Amino acid sequence: MQEKFIPTSILVTGGAGFIGSNFINHFMPGNPGCRVVNLDILTYAGNLKNLTGVEGNPDYRFVKGDICDGPLVEKLLAEERIEAVVHFAAESHVDRSITGPEIFVRTNVLGTQTLLEASRLHAQNTPEFRFLQVSTDEVYGSLGPEGYFTEETPLAPNSPYSASKAGADLLVRAYHETYQFPTLNTRCSNNYGPYHFPEKLIPLMIHNIMKRRPLPVYGDGLNVRDWLHVKDHSAAIERVLKLGKPGEIFNIGGNNEWKNIDIVNLVCDLLDQRLGRSPGENRGLITFVKDRAGHDRRYAIDASKLKRELGWEPAYTFEVGIAETIDWYLAHQEWVEEVVSGSYREYYERQYGER
Ligand code: NAD
Ligand code: DAU
Repeated sequence: MQEKFIPTSILVTGGAGFIGSNFINHFMPGNPGCRVVNLDILTYAGNLKNLTGVEGNPDYRFVKGDICDGPLVEKLLAEERIEAVVHFAAESHVDRSITGPEIFVRTNVLGTQTLLEASRLHAQNTPEFRFLQVSTDEVYGSLGPEGYFTEETPLAPNSPYSASKAGADLLVRAYHETYQFPTLNTRCSNNYGPYHFPEKLIPLMIHNIMKRRPLPVYGDGLNVRDWLHVKDHSAAIERVLKLGKPGEIFNIGGNNEWKNIDIVNLVCDLLDQRLGRSPGENRGLITFVKDRAGHDRRYAIDASKLKRELGWEPAYTFEVGIAETIDWYLAHQEWVEEVVSGSYREYYERQYGER
């Protein structure tokens, strides 16, 4: 397939987080000569150790800063002659949004608007430009046992996190409609893979199993999530950036639905083998706890538009992806210990008790 838009300089926001760092690690080797500027404020979720593979690459620049800082964003866009913004930066954890929604509105809504406005002005003097908003299937709300989210599904967010992402998506839509600003909007299902912060389901379970701590499963454990390897998500974003028609929305997902309890059981069993524990030992750590408030029951993405129009399909099977992910965590205990030792420690102790 013909690649249409080949940027020479991109601004990645939130590139020190889970998906942003995987995207940079994926994008840079395949696009030599393209400048990649990573703007990240380094919250608890941002870690430059995720990016050691690109450090020292002359095309890479890290800038510690806030996406809500308009003058900083304007300066970077101009001095780096940016041709595309790939916008990952966000507060991303649903549970944190329930206990403290304000920062979610600031970062996810105001931050997106700040980037949009600076980019819109900058794009007036840039022959070709794209703004890619990395969003989530959570903006569509919750499904019953049947059906899928398509790009036409009405937005019905249920948590402060998803409401803030939906607000950002609506601003992206408005900038395209009002100013003909060239936006793209992707909405992906749950990601898993390396550098996933251990507050999210899969890495939290791996971490707690390693430490023989309780494995908190919310409610009845029958909520369903649709899991995609982060490297497949990264490849999909690159494809949408290069081939997507401005103004379009693309769902991203791999038809891989799992009930939470089944995922937790699987992770337990794979780690029984790897840690030399007896079969079923880790499952004994499972503890059903109070449900998440407003807990969405089921997510399932219809990504057929992306396959049909842009030819993207996931490369990973879940069997291979989850095994590789578990092995990555076992081999990167230092990384895990480092990220859980900072401000996360206090949060963890509040949620799960003393460590
Ligand atoms: P993450 O929490 O791991 O990383 C977020 C990054 O944004 C961190 O590096 C953080 O330091 C940075 N950041 C936060 N506030 C900032 C600010 N004001 N200025 C600059 N940088 C800031 O998140 P993630 O899981 O990698 O998610 C990345 C994006 O993908 C988010 O927009 C999220 O909504 C979206 N998304 C995530 C998933 C998923 O399963 N994790 C699925 C679909 C979409
Ligand atoms: O669907 C995409 C979204 O996936 C992204 O937009 C979010 O940024 C990302 O965090 C993720 O949201 P979820 O809420 O689905 O992910 P989380 O890992 O927090 O939870 C997955 C499921 O597991 C959910 O049904 C809640 C449940 N859960 C989670 C945790 C942390 C538990 O049962 N126990 C837990 O300890």
